[in-house]
Amino acid sequence: MISTPAGPLERFDHRPRSRLATLPTPLERGPGLPGGARLWVKRDDLTGLGAGGNKARKLEFLCGEALRDGARSLVTVGAGQSNHCRMTAAAGAVLGLEVHLVLSGDRPAVATGNQLLSALFGAQLHYVGCPPHHWGELAIAGELLTDELAAAGAAPHSIPIGGSTAVGALGYAAAYVELVEQCAVAGIRPRAVVHTSSSGGTHAGLVAGRAVLRATGADDLPDVIAIGVAKGVNAGLPDVAELAAETLDLLDADPDSVTAADVEIDPRWIGDDYGVPTAAGDEAIRWAAVHGGWVLDRTYSGKGMAGLLGNAVAGRWRSGEDVVFLHTGGLPTVFAPGGAPSGPSSRRQ
Ligand SMILES: Cc1ncc(COP(=O)(O)O)c(C=O)c1O
Repeated sequence: MISTPAGPLERFDHRPRSRLATLPTPLERGPGLPGGARLWVKRDDLTGLGAGGNKARKLEFLCGEALRDGARSLVTVGAGQSNHCRMTAAAGAVLGLEVHLVLSGDRPAVATGNQLLSALFGAQLHYVGCPPHHWGELAIAGELLTDELAAAGAAPHSIPIGGSTAVGALGYAAAYVELVEQCAVAGIRPRAVVHTSSSGGTHAGLVAGRAVLRATGADDLPDVIAIGVAKGVNAGLPDVAELAAETLDLLDADPDSVTAADVEIDPRWIGDDYGVPTAAGDEAIRWAAVHGGWVLDRTYSGKGMAGLLGNAVAGRWRSGEDVVFLHTGGLPTVFAPGGAPSGPSSRRQ
């Protein structure tokens, strides 16, 4: 059994933090995987805030920083169906901050999925008209809007795409520690924690959390494996090792304790592009649905699970070993047009 030294989560106490997530999220025992390893699912789709998902953990630290700096409004950017934007809208509702979302695409006649919820949470939605993966264009539009709001006296705090700054990644450094503590209670030593990566902050945080525990003498820690679903992160942007090092710096831990060898991105599951469904992703959505009642989406968690299943089929883990899938959420897009594979699944999937 892995045991963590007393209080590694205390390292996070000196950082400004708004309590927004319901933590710890459950760690569920799942079925056997192809090849015989055992699946566990870390339910970060159940973080609570605004229908749940991974961004709640990042937003705790990002909003803590915003409030410390006297912000009265939040600005962030994302794809039209961004989960991050929806959860930022919910955080603003909880904290009494005005929220502005800069989104790709055009204003739809009828809002669905994350856009419907963001509007319900009271956010203002600004559409840039560009394709979903034009991150640079979105970032520039976000900066212009932030400047306008500042000039109008709205005291904006700008959160970059996906909340993937070192401050945001703190949430996933803490999550790694939380997960290892839960594994100790469950009596397992997983070989890996597999998750979906798009803007890289979740990945960087997990890598930083692993380094924090390693520095305290914990060994045999689960590897962190990212399944890349955006071209940027597959091409090495952001530099996840660098972002993890910055995260460690914020925790007064040794930034040099993370190296490129700690960072593994499996780029094989993106398909044609970010947001374009794949056959493997759709199969993984059905597999998860019929094996555990888990709901995965076609842009993120479905492709992430496809990566986990693909690695299991290829024999990466041995029979009897444990593997954790970090379920990062994505539920609302399932209810947007084309958000789920159509037709019933077979129980034998
Ligand atoms: C459901 C879901 N999973 C995974 C991710 C990837 O997280 P990150 O941007 O930190 O890489 C996102 C990001 O938007 C997401 O919405």
